[in-house]
Amino acid sequence: MKYLLGIDLGTSGTKTVLFNDAGKAVCSASEEYPLLQPNNGWAEQDPADWWNACVLTLKRVISDSKINPRDIAGIGFSGQMHGLVMLDDKGEVVRNSIIWCDGRTADECDEITKRVGESRLVEITGNHALTSFTAGNILWVRNHEPELYKKCKHILLPKDYLRFKLTGKLGMEASDASGMNLLDIRTRNWSDEVLKKLDINPELLPDVYESSGIAGSITAEAAALTNLAEGTPVVYGGGDNAAAAIGTGVVESGKAFITIGTSGVLFAHSDEVAVDKGGRVNTFCAAVPNAWAVFGCTLSAGLSLQWLRNNFFLPEMKVAEGLGKDTYDIMTAQAERIPIGANRLIFMPYLMGERSPILDPNARAVFFGLSAIHTKYDMLRSVMEGVIYAQRQCLDIHRDMGIEFGEIYATGGGGSSPLWRQMIADIFDLPVVTVQNREGPALGAAILAGVGAGMYKSVADACKEIIKVNAPQLPIAENTKKYDPYYNLFCDLYPAMKEGFRTLSKL
Ligand code: XUL
Repeated sequence: MKYLLGIDLGTSGTKTVLFNDAGKAVCSASEEYPLLQPNNGWAEQDPADWWNACVLTLKRVISDSKINPRDIAGIGFSGQMHGLVMLDDKGEVVRNSIIWCDGRTADECDEITKRVGESRLVEITGNHALTSFTAGNILWVRNHEPELYKKCKHILLPKDYLRFKLTGKLGMEASDASGMNLLDIRTRNWSDEVLKKLDINPELLPDVYESSGIAGSITAEAAALTNLAEGTPVVYGGGDNAAAAIGTGVVESGKAFITIGTSGVLFAHSDEVAVDKGGRVNTFCAAVPNAWAVFGCTLSAGLSLQWLRNNFFLPEMKVAEGLGKDTYDIMTAQAERIPIGANRLIFMPYLMGERSPILDPNARAVFFGLSAIHTKYDMLRSVMEGVIYAQRQCLDIHRDMGIEFGEIYATGGGGSSPLWRQMIADIFDLPVVTVQNREGPALGAAILAGVGAGMYKSVADACKEIIKVNAPQLPIAENTKKYDPYYNLFCDLYPAMKEGFRTLSKL
């Protein structure tokens, strides 16, 4: 029997999953690490934590599954996008990674727009200059930490760093590289024009490949640390959303999925480059050659629920621990008892500022309509609803752009919650489909490894063989009618508060 490994480098932790050749998860291990917030609106992680989690989870999967590591045909990655990893000439990390939900680079984004020209930037990279995208992070280090910038000899994205540690080889792939504001999304290669205008030395960046290409193999040193077999092939992998698309079978036009992990993403596959001129949603390369993705990102989706849990649901956390249960299951059972609209309470999920569609790093979260009648359970329900209202705004923009789909696949932690799925069905007014193998991004990473190792002819072929769907969860018309006025009010709230957020950020 041959096996495939998918390593999913997330924001709350890294999950490593071993799959058999039918795409069934046979063993998995996860390891968490902290999100560092040295300032209001900043977000960093230590790449050493990622590497440590990678090593520990690989070791655990190999020992728990009791397989012969020589039977692993290939290893793939899925990784949180945009984070800046800087290495010195010895391959050592220069500073903590500034990650995808950091909002410090508004000035650098203005600088990028001015240097490249707004329309040229969108034409080439598919996106406006956005805070937390890697180019802004690079310029921020250059502007604020010139000594560290001078030391930097290589730039990587988070999962590329893990691959570098496992194989000793530097490299990137198009799905993740397209989230840097530096790639020409049509040629799927670095834009000389953008690099020149931003005065970024192209030698800092490795070559860009397609996701299922073989990047290298496990070195003797990495084998000794992880118990993997030396020489096991490793593929480039994909950004987490691009990998999740493969793991849910969203690999052709007319298909889309929603994922609620730390962030929330509504991702539609496209066989051509489609860009929203206003930049309200993003366009990136897909992890399939000659394909792209249009997607809207809610920065604090699962993060909002995690924040609420950590600050208001400590007793439930203790109970869950005692019973060996998941706190989120206890919380969602409580949210289910609260009526639609959370007794007239609306949550705006802007804990880390917001990307789609408002593009505002100064925005902050709001409970709108809080009254003495409310309990933490109303707040809980409103948080869950607010995240889906934010994603519905992204759906409306997809529809504006003429990108239509008749059903939506759901994945990520939120996708495994029946309540959250019903909210998606009702608020989107679309059937919600889940796939039987729930490993989304890790499965996508393993499929890429399977294609690279020659087990499948193509990603599409592999998906046809592996991905099986469950019966859809249908929208309930009566619920949709109840949510609609709340959604309309949600849309009106941000424009009314925009100025206030700006003022607050200056206090
Ligand atoms: C996508 C994005 C997030 C991260 C973290 O553009 O910023 O979805 O990839 O998951």
